[in-house]
Amino acid sequence: MCYIYHRVLRDAIVCSEAVFPFHSGVLTLPLLLPFDDASLTLGASLLREGKLVAFPTETVYGLGADATNDRAVASIYAAKGRPSFNPLIVHAADKKDFDPFVVWNDTACALARALWPGPITLILKRKEGCPLSLLVSAGLDTVAIRIPNHPVALALLRKTGRPIAAPSANASGFLSPTTAAHVAASLGDKVDLILDGGACPVGLESTVINLATSTPVILRPGGLPLEKIEAVLGTPVPVFHAEAPLSPPSPGMLASHYAPHIPVRLNAEQPEKGEAFLAFGPQHPCSGPVLNLSPSGDVVEAAANLFAMLHRLDRPEHIGIAVSPIPNEGLGLAINDRLRRAAAAR
Ligand code: TXA
Ligand code: MG
Repeated sequence: MCYIYHRVLRDAIVCSEAVFPFHSGVLTLPLLLPFDDASLTLGASLLREGKLVAFPTETVYGLGADATNDRAVASIYAAKGRPSFNPLIVHAADKKDFDPFVVWNDTACALARALWPGPITLILKRKEGCPLSLLVSAGLDTVAIRIPNHPVALALLRKTGRPIAAPSANASGFLSPTTAAHVAASLGDKVDLILDGGACPVGLESTVINLATSTPVILRPGGLPLEKIEAVLGTPVPVFHAEAPLSPPSPGMLASHYAPHIPVRLNAEQPEKGEAFLAFGPQHPCSGPVLNLSPSGDVVEAAANLFAMLHRLDRPEHIGIAVSPIPNEGLGLAINDRLRRAAAAR
């Protein structure tokens, strides 16, 4: 096969057929294939063999492994360089697929019925005899579950016939990937196959809600707005704030978790000299590198652009990224949560 190199992307050469990362000058090959019947069959059989397959969901790309296979789940942590105390979300295509794993309650059933498939992750008590690897719970007595709303993810889950543990498909602590090229640049040959299903439409990770406690609590604002959850439950739902917790209930809530390589400065009206600017809403023109999350001031459009634009501005030639204020409404809550963590001291 003949590959045409057309773009250099951080440590990877992206070509029209695949992405080849370089490590110390050695060419290694992660397989990046467009989604079709053949790549779906390959992805499902790799997952059943305990291999790692990255795939698109409506939120971000996930780094998938068979959630019942300890070695496969451990290889997720290894590939991401993830602290082993951070638990993983288990994905399936149908609600009943989760029955052997979790203890359902009325609140969880109502949310699942109304909002799945979709960008909401439910944390429930682990059922006795649950066949999932203990590693997915990272020592907790709970499991996080979700049905993603994406045709590639759903086809892969059905074809594999196993629950799939999948964190975002990026090296731990870095930006979540919203394209196959982001995955290749972040994880390179640490993943056995990347299924390319285009850009993720939501662009923000799922909203995580803890339903294993007496009162539901949002642990991570995300792609499903809080208002929609409150509408289903008919009651306000508190949001856990990551700013200064003594012991975060969700280890993924660590303050500095979604960090670009360069500093991030929030609520900036305009960039300082040397800074790139991530704007929001109608802006006065300013010099230097500027991307606008949503010129019309739409938080849904901004959410879809957030990680991709942070990736594009995260360049060593900039001293940092200045970010416009984003309204704290709808998906703006989740955007601001990610931005606060991107800006947190490391
Ligand atoms: O949209 C998403 O949620 C994506 C796609 C691939 O589904 N996945 C994702 O996974 O963002 P990850 O691992 O990057 O984030 C999962 C979050 C973390 O904050 C983790 O700490 C939390 O969910 N979590 C998972 N299991 C948990 C549990 N049992 N208790 C508390 N928090 C949990
Ligand atoms: Mg993540």
